[in-house]
Amino acid sequence: MRIPGPLQFALLTIAAYLVLKAPGLVVQAPVPSSLVTLYMFFAVVVILLAMTATEAGTERLFGPVRRLFAEPGRERTRYTVVFAVAAAAALITYANLRPSYEAPVLARTVHPAPPRTMDAYGRTFDLSTLENPLRRLEKDDPQRFEEYVRQGGTIYFRNCFFCHGPKLDGRGHLAKGLDPAPLPFAGTDTIAQLSESYLFWRIVKGGRGLPEESRPALSSMPAWEGYLKEDEVWKVILFLYEYTGNTPRRWKEEKG
Ligand code: HEC
Repeated sequence: MRIPGPLQFALLTIAAYLVLKAPGLVVQAPVPSSLVTLYMFFAVVVILLAMTATEAGTERLFGPVRRLFAEPGRERTRYTVVFAVAAAAALITYANLRPSYEAPVLARTVHPAPPRTMDAYGRTFDLSTLENPLRRLEKDDPQRFEEYVRQGGTIYFRNCFFCHGPKLDGRGHLAKGLDPAPLPFAGTDTIAQLSESYLFWRIVKGGRGLPEESRPALSSMPAWEGYLKEDEVWKVILFLYEYTGNTPRRWKEEKG
């Protein structure tokens, strides 16, 4: 018995697909699906061309389809086929429409440019030139410097470690519930890249001081201006750098 044309077409198409897929399965490195789609397009065109090269071939391929839709007395088969095709299309669409329960990805600038000036503690700070007034003690009075770092540590463990963590790695016990997560200070890619005036701004103004591009997600970083005094903020900044072994970024090299 000869295979009916449409079935032969289907078998050849499946064979072409398997030829493209098989090597990938054997060597565990599948051919990319976009490439398979591209080759399958050419395969189908070639199969159609080959099968319809003669009148008889064309009749063998399309004859059964034409008879199904044109001949009287075949209504039942006709409607079954039409319904099956529509149902298959609906099923495929439904399978591809499965909802995703992942949270949407939000682009957020983690380290936005700070404003030029900032109003706090009844004054206006010029953030582009602002320096940590306690920093010079590192050379001038190491003992007092050390004392301030220690006080900064106390401030940190009273106010910040719940979120930023006892190891300053951003993994405080509240951190898991926060999005965006608290930033780590240890390591070389956060405060090591920032100036002390930047930290001063972030600590004083907190999450609500962030510009638009950093705020698709709400930051839980508190604004500390109402809770910490100006010198306490500078002390905690000293502590963050000392404890993590980082040095703040400077605008210009110190002369000396
Ligand atoms: C309720 C949790 C919470 C507490 C408490 C908290 N922070 Fe944060 N902090 C965050 C979160 C979340 C971020 C990251 C989002 C952002 O940048 O606003 C952050 C960011 C920062 C940044 C910016 C770091 C960077 O790389 O840009 C600094 C600096 C900072 N915190 C310092 C502190 C200091 C100092 C304290 C204590 C005085 C403190 N934080 C207390 C949650 C907290």
